Amino acid sequence: MKRVAVIGAGAMGSGIAQVAAMAGHEVILYDAFPNAVAKGRDGISQSLNKLAEKGKITDQEAKTIFGRLYFAESLDSIAGSDLIIEAIIEREEEKKKLFALIEPLVSEQAIIASNTSSLPITSLANGLKHPERFIGIHFFNPPVMMQLVEIIPALQTASYIIENIMQEIRSWGKTPVRAKDTPGFIVNRIARPYYGEALRIAEEQLATPAMIDKAMKHLGGFRMGPFELMDFIGNDINEAVTRSVWTSMHFDSRYRPSQLQVNLVRAGWYGRKSGRGYYDYAAKVEEPSDALTEEHAYIFRRVLVMLINEAADALYYGIASKEDIDLAMTLGVNYPKGLLKWADEKGIAECVRQIDDLYYLYKEERYRCSVLLRKMAEARQTFYG
Ligand SMILES: NC(=O)c1ccc[n+]([C@@H]2O[C@H](COP(=O)([O-])OP(=O)(O)OC[C@H]3O[C@@H](n4cnc5c(N)ncnc54)[C@H](O)[C@@H]3O)[C@@H](O)[C@H]2O)c1
Repeated sequence: MKRVAVIGAGAMGSGIAQVAAMAGHEVILYDAFPNAVAKGRDGISQSLNKLAEKGKITDQEAKTIFGRLYFAESLDSIAGSDLIIEAIIEREEEKKKLFALIEPLVSEQAIIASNTSSLPITSLANGLKHPERFIGIHFFNPPVMMQLVEIIPALQTASYIIENIMQEIRSWGKTPVRAKDTPGFIVNRIARPYYGEALRIAEEQLATPAMIDKAMKHLGGFRMGPFELMDFIGNDINEAVTRSVWTSMHFDSRYRPSQLQVNLVRAGWYGRKSGRGYYDYAAKVEEPSDALTEEHAYIFRRVLVMLINEAADALYYGIASKEDIDLAMTLGVNYPKGLLKWADEKGIAECVRQIDDLYYLYKEERYRCSVLLRKMAEARQTFYG
């Protein structure tokens, strides 16, 4: 694979273009808006200079990499590309319109990919003349820094394309994991309870956001607590992802958005970017200095076991292999440990008992235990032998 085209020069597209150029490819970066192309070019130039300042690459390498990039103002420039990665606005109709324009410009062998976070790859492939060469390549933000890439074949994707892309992404110095084309793929699905269960605990007034954040960081070793993280991501974005997964999962109550979060979005309390979210960033945000108690332990147990339940269910439904599930959560969202490995350490029977306790208390579908965990507990199995 020699020439790579990236379409959409926003946060993701620019980063992906830089990663491809750093891997030695000639890259064409195109955007429908010339201003966006210029912004993308400046962003890449700054990023390469920073890498050079830090000594990660030499000044000469930065120049050579930048020289491999061509910033295009016409889509026709993508002719001759072997791999085309789309990273435009997250709208199915816009993306499909673009694919119809791309296909006649490139050869039948060229691979066409989407970086979508939430749209079904199978729907995006539908409408292409050659859907068998279409695939999802989901980078994480920022692409230059984040190691993980989810590779999502559509139902129509030819198997040699999957292997080809897995190898290609590996050669870009990234870690690809293979995911089934289901809502949220691996990371955005399995991470839902980190936010959802934390919100539920706060909604029930069992604990404050600060207390929950403290429990998850100090007892779980998570880098950021759920509320800090939601404020960082943006509550509007986080709520939209939750709503998208919930809707696509046919309103399964496990993914239901929280009224608490919906209200924050209504108020415009998006988090850090708006100065206020669960925390008020006009003031200094300080962690409560109280000691860790049994209440903190309860919060940590409850959130963790719901994450484990989600990971086990993803494995049960073949969303990804156990190794890829654990890798995805450690590399994609920096979890301190793979969730299935964590389940082994807790004991599968103990996980089942904790989830069943929640179910008996609430009598809600949300707290149903994964069939896989139950079967494994009965057979005294572990995930990693
Ligand atoms: N931001 C993230 O954290 C993240 C992470 C993974 C995947 N994604 C996905 O990546 C894609 C891009 O997201 P982003 O955050 O970079 O968005 P962005 O808004 O920063 O950039 C999108 C760019 O696409 C351009 N564009 C819009 N319509 C176009 C068209 N028809 N043709 C060419 N260019 C067009 C816009 O001018 C803009 O520069 C989305 O599908 C998103 O879901 C985003």
